[in-house]
Amino acid sequence: MWGGRFSDKPAELMQAINVSIGFDKRLAAQDLAGSRAHAAMLRKSGVITSDDEVAIQGGLATILSEIEAGTFPFREEYEDIHMNVEARLRELIGPAAGRLHTARSRNDQVALDFRMWVRDACDRTAGQIHALQKALLAKAEIHADAVMPGFTHLQPAQPVTFGHHLMAYVEMFGRDAGRFVDARARMNESPLGAAALAGSPFPIDRQMTAEALGFARPTANSLDSVADRDFALESLAAATICATHLSRLAEEIVIWMTPQFGFIKLSDAFTTGSSIMPQKKNPDAAELVRAKVGRLLGSFTQLTVVMKGLPLTYSKDMQEDKVPTFEAFDALELSLRAMAGMVADLEPNTATMATAAGAGYSTATDLADWLVRELNLPFRDAHHVTGAAVKKAEELGVGLSDLPLSELQALDGRITSSIYDVLTPEASVASRRSYGGTAPDQVRAQIKRWKEALA
Ligand code: ARG
Repeated sequence: MWGGRFSDKPAELMQAINVSIGFDKRLAAQDLAGSRAHAAMLRKSGVITSDDEVAIQGGLATILSEIEAGTFPFREEYEDIHMNVEARLRELIGPAAGRLHTARSRNDQVALDFRMWVRDACDRTAGQIHALQKALLAKAEIHADAVMPGFTHLQPAQPVTFGHHLMAYVEMFGRDAGRFVDARARMNESPLGAAALAGSPFPIDRQMTAEALGFARPTANSLDSVADRDFALESLAAATICATHLSRLAEEIVIWMTPQFGFIKLSDAFTTGSSIMPQKKNPDAAELVRAKVGRLLGSFTQLTVVMKGLPLTYSKDMQEDKVPTFEAFDALELSLRAMAGMVADLEPNTATMATAAGAGYSTATDLADWLVRELNLPFRDAHHVTGAAVKKAEELGVGLSDLPLSELQALDGRITSSIYDVLTPEASVASRRSYGGTAPDQVRAQIKRWKEALA
């Protein structure tokens, strides 16, 4: 493509380090869409003739069908996707192919292609997050009343419902989807027409190509247009945060699956056995989702380090933007789909959860609250009395609801048997009716709101 200035061929090693077609072939669809929009604009602006445009569009359409059919000859000697397409176009339509690159450079071309790829990836990912949220909502609705222990420090804290717990993830994934939507809105400007870096002397219409390619507007600074990759960084940051949330849910699935917890069962579809220990059923899919965040953060770190300190505008360093980004989205999309599958598949063992919800003096706070409400004790004093009640129950080897009234009255003579009404996990959960609390009515109200939002 630049033979005029060169008399020798590149060294083999030069080609080995320079070539990107092995990975940037994934930009083929975006590259062709960009070229079609560019050719139409060049004709409308009078830069190329209508005959040339017809030939170019026909050639690009042929190339698209070759790519879709898997017959397109990707060739390393043409370095990247842009030059592979142009070389093939020349084979198909002859010299008119050479007019397509008027008022354009590979610098704005790759910025455009990659931006469109990331934009599509953000859309797909947001859609997959919504699918996962729907799977969570469906499970949460069935189990809006199922009590389980709520934890802090992974120690039993207060009873909650399984539905409430799942809805916590619906909130997290809702913010994750929102981050992709926000990133998309910010990146939705077309760099095409910035050319190499300074803009173009031809009477191009950047508004027209921006519109044709679904952008809100063209970018406003030609240098920034070819130098910017923060759209990819922002998306990778959003992807990493989402993967972090996935890893937390994955970790809980792993914990809940242990015989020691026994809170849930996963079917054979999402577990594996052991080649030596016949009794095993391992949550490998959850473990792998838990691990993928490493890849995601690795990709974000990789691209941040590539971009750090790069002088304006384009440098070939930026070719290293694609592999980490492709890998990150591949890993995230697979994780989201696997997690949605696991959530739909998992069956809670509600009896085990309910028993655990009552263990560990989990209604101690309810006891203290009763003392505040009914006896007007200051909360700190109520906390102290309750602590003594827990100590007593521990001595006697019983739960709080089985502690004899005489023992409670020894701590405060005004305590009546109505205190037992608040000491079951069900009563505890039902009482937490504050907005966003774990009372089943509150949980159902949030499920309804989310169902409407995702409909
Ligand atoms: N393959 C290159 C990349 O991915 C395309 C842009 C090359 N531009 C250049 N001036 N060498 O970044």
